[in-house]
Amino acid sequence: MNDQNNFAGKIGAILATAGSAVGLGNIWRFPTEAGANGGAAFLLIYISFMLLLATPIMIAEFTIGRHGQSDVMHAFESMSNGKKDWRYMGYLPVIAGILVLSYYAVVAGWTLEYAFRAGINDFIGKTQEEFTQDFIAFSSNPLKPLTWLFLILALTFGIVALGVQKGIERGAKIMMPTLFVFLAILAICSLTLPNASLGLNFLFKPDFSKVNSSTILSAMGQSFFTLSVGICCLCTYACYFRKDVNLIKDGFKVAAIDTLVAIMSGVIIFPAVYSIPGLSPDAGPSLVFITLPNVFQEVFSGLPVIAYLFSLMFYLLLVMAALTSSISMLEMSAAYFHKEKGMSRPKAALIMSLICLVLGAACSLSFGIWQDITIFGMGFFDLFDFLVAKLLMPIGGLLICIYLGWIVDNKDVYDELTNNGTIAQPLYPYFRFIIRYFAPICIAMIFITEIGLLKI
Ligand code: PHE
Repeated sequence: MNDQNNFAGKIGAILATAGSAVGLGNIWRFPTEAGANGGAAFLLIYISFMLLLATPIMIAEFTIGRHGQSDVMHAFESMSNGKKDWRYMGYLPVIAGILVLSYYAVVAGWTLEYAFRAGINDFIGKTQEEFTQDFIAFSSNPLKPLTWLFLILALTFGIVALGVQKGIERGAKIMMPTLFVFLAILAICSLTLPNASLGLNFLFKPDFSKVNSSTILSAMGQSFFTLSVGICCLCTYACYFRKDVNLIKDGFKVAAIDTLVAIMSGVIIFPAVYSIPGLSPDAGPSLVFITLPNVFQEVFSGLPVIAYLFSLMFYLLLVMAALTSSISMLEMSAAYFHKEKGMSRPKAALIMSLICLVLGAACSLSFGIWQDITIFGMGFFDLFDFLVAKLLMPIGGLLICIYLGWIVDNKDVYDELTNNGTIAQPLYPYFRFIIRYFAPICIAMIFITEIGLLKI
């Protein structure tokens, strides 16, 4: 059996992609970004970007990857009509995979710490003040987060190195629906909190006066990040897709699941933010780690066993959701060295993990002893997030559109999306229009505006 089959051939397109897409981006990054950018107006712009940019680009990545059936470098070369330089796109997932995993693993490590704390019943009877202090003390501690960072990278490495996906396939099949059910219950619980309506207003009642070009760039970045698009992560996965997958239909399904999870997370977080004194929606990356343990305590205050089980299960699920995404990140860079350079899978995965460990340590320390070290005004963690979500993803997305819309033969794209004419794709003309004109112009315009602003 070759490696492609080994990796994801049997998982099925939806499961693998949904595993990569649904993660901390939905449950942690979405509320953080929505909170920092005014809530409802951000949500609306974000959903528009999901529909009009991120999902079509995801389908574009699927098309390129599945056509290539090997790795990203080969995939871009194989559709390029002789314009071989496009193969250099193969470096994008290597660089972006390392950058994104380095800081993502820090937050994934936090989820491990919180799963552990939930396990030892550390949340019981704590006040908001204590949760806040606990989080600050933990994230700024030089050693503890590094230990969890190491552990999460070791787990990610282990799974990618083995390349055995049966465990993930089964795990994901159980995990994804369970996560969904948990989020739904939590959302209902959050709605019972005293100031829930204020939170819902914040999330659903748009105030466009708060929108500026940086809100728009943030919403675009978030739509790309949450679907893992623009840096050829899904292109890497699509290399392992079977030929009978309906790329457009499955793309929309994944986007729908992903959006629902993000909105549910918002419905959990914002009512809690407005109900628990001392919190504000723009509290930043710590929001989820301070509010959530509190929600469990508040809602189940008379039922300590339920509060205990609920928090534990929730954080374990969060760890798993983070893992299915971090695996896809490591796979992005490891696949290149494995496929193009002939390195063994474990060796490629190990080298990449070690690089991420070093860079991740810098990101982790930027919450504590290295918080004064800044580049372009940002600490390492924020810098990496900026580089990935606001630079590489949109630029990568733009290049993918130019490639598929203008370089590849229309017939090749059409054949790939209709599975060689065996299925109908009524949306194809819209897809083509978005990829050729709408998406590239839109991304370029947002960029130019933002750069213009940066110069001021
Ligand atoms: N989409 C993932 C999430 O929302 C993050 C991710 C980004 C995964 C880029 C792979 C590549 O958590």
